[in-house]
Amino acid sequence: MSEALAKPSSFETEQSRDVLSLLEEVEILKVQNEELRSKLLDITIENGKYLQAINKFQEQVDNLRRPPLFIATVIDIVNGMAILRQHGSNQEILTYMPKDITIDIGSRVAVNNNLSTISVLSKSVDVRARVMELVDVPEVDYDVIGGLKKQIEEVVETIELPLTQPELFKEIGIDPPSAVLLHGPPGTGKTLIAKAVAHRTHATFLCLSGTELVQKYIGEGARLVRDLFQMARDKTPSIVFIDEIDSVASMRSYDGSTGSAEVNRTMIQLLAEIDGFRRREGVKIIAATNRIDLLDQAILRPGRFDRIIEIPLPDEIAREEIFKIHTRKIKLEQIDFKKLAKITAGLSGADIKAMVTEAGMFALRHGGKKVAMSDIRKAQKKLIELKKKDPNQMFA
Ligand SMILES: Nc1ncnc2c1ncn2[C@@H]1O[C@H](COP(=O)(O)OP(=O)(O)OP(=O)(O)O)[C@@H](O)[C@H]1O
Ligand SMILES: [Mg+2]
Repeated sequence: MSEALAKPSSFETEQSRDVLSLLEEVEILKVQNEELRSKLLDITIENGKYLQAINKFQEQVDNLRRPPLFIATVIDIVNGMAILRQHGSNQEILTYMPKDITIDIGSRVAVNNNLSTISVLSKSVDVRARVMELVDVPEVDYDVIGGLKKQIEEVVETIELPLTQPELFKEIGIDPPSAVLLHGPPGTGKTLIAKAVAHRTHATFLCLSGTELVQKYIGEGARLVRDLFQMARDKTPSIVFIDEIDSVASMRSYDGSTGSAEVNRTMIQLLAEIDGFRRREGVKIIAATNRIDLLDQAILRPGRFDRIIEIPLPDEIAREEIFKIHTRKIKLEQIDFKKLAKITAGLSGADIKAMVTEAGMFALRHGGKKVAMSDIRKAQKKLIELKKKDPNQMFA
């Protein structure tokens, strides 16, 4: 009996081995279970993604099944109703606007077959609106322009006064001027002047980029020019700003190829529009270029632009002013503006602005709370190096 207690029988040993192996198996199953559970989680997540994708496709299919919409422009708003003009057909429609849609005159909207408005289109939806960036009244005034006093005076005489006090010209009996061409190196304030004039006169500012016109909207240039001037007529007082006019009105642009024939057609349309505007009150033209040497003589012919104004690189006094303008909102530490103006000969207004911004970045990087002279010098060094590589380069 005592022997039997001390030594387990072979049956008992076998049993406890079974238990052990069962326990082991349970452990393995537990691990496997964990693995499966985490796999299941992964798959559920994946499944969610597929469901989302399916929903998206379903939405697209639904959109494709919907009837097409028409584009119209709001030409007037009367007692909560909108008068729309449909593109293409020029048909006019009077319709109620849904309460959740806010529109202005000139907005482009999508209408359905029943001619009720579905949504307002962003400007980018319409190709034409993209070239003709419409800035109703830019928030730029003459006080943010350094130097250029004489030039601003000339622009005021030719563009601002005829818009704000046309009677002055009538009294004396002269036709008010209506177009100026600004020319000079890049970044010197041409666009700035045009915007400031629009701001002063509360005129609609229509901006047409010559480069975009010839590069992006091939085949549409002439029509776009016509549309732009139509828009200017609809929204008087207005200022049409034609930036980089050299792209459309360069004497080398016509070499007989199809592309250049198209550019030429655009230019002819532009000249026709400029001429058509000579005596029209309420619409003024400002064109800008930094390659006046390339301009076609037809554009420069006396009578087309009333004034051809050079916008030069800023001189020392102007540079000092520009530094002060662009540091107005910046916390400064002992800045010697006179010295800065002295050591930055050859830089444009845009360069100076970039330099100030970059100086701010330097100050930020070394944990400073103010921009110091040393930060501006570092920024200048960086700009000089960038310009060595590419003379037209400014800070990114
Ligand atoms: N005279 C200036 N006074 C103050 N800031 C200026 C001046 N000139 C340029 N700048 C700064 O540079 C920026 C670019 O200037 P702007 O767009 O007027 O140049 P631009 O002459 O039209 O150049 P581009 O020929 O390249 O079109 C302005 O937004 C402004 O911050
Ligand atoms: Mg410009």
